[in-house]
Order: sequence, then structure tokens, then C-alpha cells
Amino acid sequence: MLLEVKNLSVEFLSDEPGQAPAHAVDSVSFSLNRGEVLGLVGESGCGKSATAMSIPRLLPSPPARITSGEIFFQGENLLSLPIERMREIRGTKIGVIFQDPMTSLSPLHRIGDQLIEVVRLHRNLSRSACRDLALEWLGRVGIPDPEQRAKAFPFELSGGMQQRVMIAMGLILEPELIIADEPTTALDVTIQAQILNLMRKLYRQNSALLLITHDMGVVYQMATKITVMYAGQVVESCEDAARFFAHPQHPYSRALLEALPSAETRGQKLRAIPGQVPYAGAFPPGCRFHDRCPQARPACSSAEQTLHPVNDSLVRCPFTETSK
Ligand SMILES: Nc1ncnc2c1ncn2[C@@H]1O[C@H](COP(=O)(O)OP(=O)(O)O)[C@@H](O)[C@H]1O
Ligand code: SF4
Ligand SMILES: [Mg+2]
Repeated sequence: MLLEVKNLSVEFLSDEPGQAPAHAVDSVSFSLNRGEVLGLVGESGCGKSATAMSIPRLLPSPPARITSGEIFFQGENLLSLPIERMREIRGTKIGVIFQDPMTSLSPLHRIGDQLIEVVRLHRNLSRSACRDLALEWLGRVGIPDPEQRAKAFPFELSGGMQQRVMIAMGLILEPELIIADEPTTALDVTIQAQILNLMRKLYRQNSALLLITHDMGVVYQMATKITVMYAGQVVESCEDAARFFAHPQHPYSRALLEALPSAETRGQKLRAIPGQVPYAGAFPPGCRFHDRCPQARPACSSAEQTLHPVNDSLVRCPFTETSK
């Protein structure tokens, strides 16, 4: 197993004295092997980024605090590693791609120099070999005329081109695990398709991709397995993405998929799920989805649900399609 996240819980301390912390992630578990793409999905505010950024230990602490869990990467628990070792792993074995390219690009340096620096820090190569590799990767992510463009500052590039440069930064050391948090959300549909194609093409057989998005269309194109989060918890996880899309079990998964445009509804306005994700500092008692769930019954607002197996999925609801 390349990555195994076990019972991870994360809270954010409030900066207001006396205020309860936000329980952003509640006992989340999943695993990922080489060759797999795990789609981690759920609406905004469900705890996807807090989960994902705990893996390379990139959550700012404070306010974030990991209150329980283990994260095994190639057998080592990342949460108990000395920070130096963690930095080395983060630099070479785990690549992170964010939604906003400016999170990982420096505005003050030319893009070519930034790529060269990444390689120079982690590979024992000559300056010219580092430069060749940087130019090669600019070409691979579809930047035309890499030699010239390498001299550009990030602000001189379009959003799509900046995103490509960031993807090159995340992949140039050929990490074994790639964590991409909403990598295409800020882009328009045409560029989004180009970037997804690019990630698919570059995606190596011996690496694994953790793809975080609230866009079911993106997961549909990319994922081999699925974990759905709602209000900080896993509500469904399925080892087989095709099966998940054919037979989603949890009412929340079904609602997310109904919001996905089909051939018939393409072009029409997307259906949104009525209501809102509850705030992580004040979850309602019982099933956290009950006030939005079309299948809710009276017991749902008092009984906490646990994950139980349904076919090859784990589902946090006793009233699934199959069990009805
Ligand atoms: N820096 C922070 N300080 C306080 N609360 C935060 C912070 N970051 C995230 N949260 C809270 O944690 C919950 C999960 O957030 P996040 O992981 O960003 O969700 P997602 O990525 O699914 O949109 C939300 O309720 C959010 O308000
Ligand atoms: S436990 Fe009840 S409210 Fe929660 S998802 Fe299942 S049916 Fe809906
Ligand atoms: Mg997020």
C-alpha cells in the first residue's frame, strides 16, 4: 500500500476565546495504491482540503490541530516523522498541485528559474542538466516555446499557463504520490479539459493520484475509486468508480450525481442540492445530512450513523438503495 490514512481527525481552533473548535475532519480513513486515482469528493466545506493537506503536513498549525489518526506513506507514519525528513519526502515523493497557482509560484522569479531550483534542491545534477529538465517539463505540460517562456514571470502568463507551470513543478521530480486539490476549478471549461487530459497523459503507472474536487464531472473522467465526504466524515467509499457512478448508495452521493449534467440535461442549469453543509463547529445531532436528505425519517435526526459494508462500498446510512 502506498498511502494509508487511518482515522484522521483535524480541528481548527477559533481565534475567538471560548469559541469551540471547528471539527473539520472526523475519523477519516482511505487508502491508495500505485496506478490508482482516488476521487475525494463533496461540496465545499466538507473537509476535503483539510484531509488532503494533512498528508504532506501543510496545514498551518495553529489554527489546525490533528487530534487523532495515522498517515502511513510507504510504511512510515508521516505524522510522527521529524520535520526534516518530512520536508525531504514532500519535496521528492509527494507532489502537491493547488487550486491557485500563485500558492506555489513565486511572483518574483522567472518560471524557468523556479523549476530549475526545485530540481537543483533535490537532484544531484549539473546546472545545465537541471535547466534541460525544466525546459523539457515546460514542453511536456504544453507550454509553447519553452526556451522563451522560461524567462517569463508568472504574472506574464494566463491563468491556464500558470496552472500548467504549477503542474510541471508538482510533477518534475516524478513523485510517487500526487495530491491535486481542485486543480482545474478556477479554469474555464476548455482549459479545464486540456489540463485534465494533460494530467491523465503525464500520470505514470507507478504513481498514485489523490484528486480532490467538488466537481463530479471531473471525478467521472479521472477516478478509479471514490471517497465521498460530507460534513467532515466519509459517507461513502467505493473501490470501483464505475460501480459508484452506476449505483451510488448514500443519499448524499445520489444527490451529488443528480446534480451532474447528463446527455439530456447538458446545457440546462445544474440542479443544486437544497440547503447547506452545516458549519464544522456545530454539527446537528444524528445523521449530519438529515436536514437535506430526501430519504430522511424521524430516527435520522437522533441516531448517529456508522460506516457499514454494502456490496464493495462502505456507506454511512442504513437506508441505501440495495437495503430498501
Ligand atoms: N484556517 C481555517 N480556520 C478555521 N476553520 C477552517 C480553516 N480552514 C478550514 N476550516 C473549516 O474546516 C471545514 C473544512 O474545510 P475544508 O477542508 O477547506 O473543506 P473543503 O476543502 O471540502 O471545501 C470548514 O468548515 C471550514 O470552515
Ligand atoms: S441516515 Fe437518514 S438522513 Fe442520513 S442519509 Fe440515511 S436516510 Fe438520509
Ligand atoms: Mg478545499
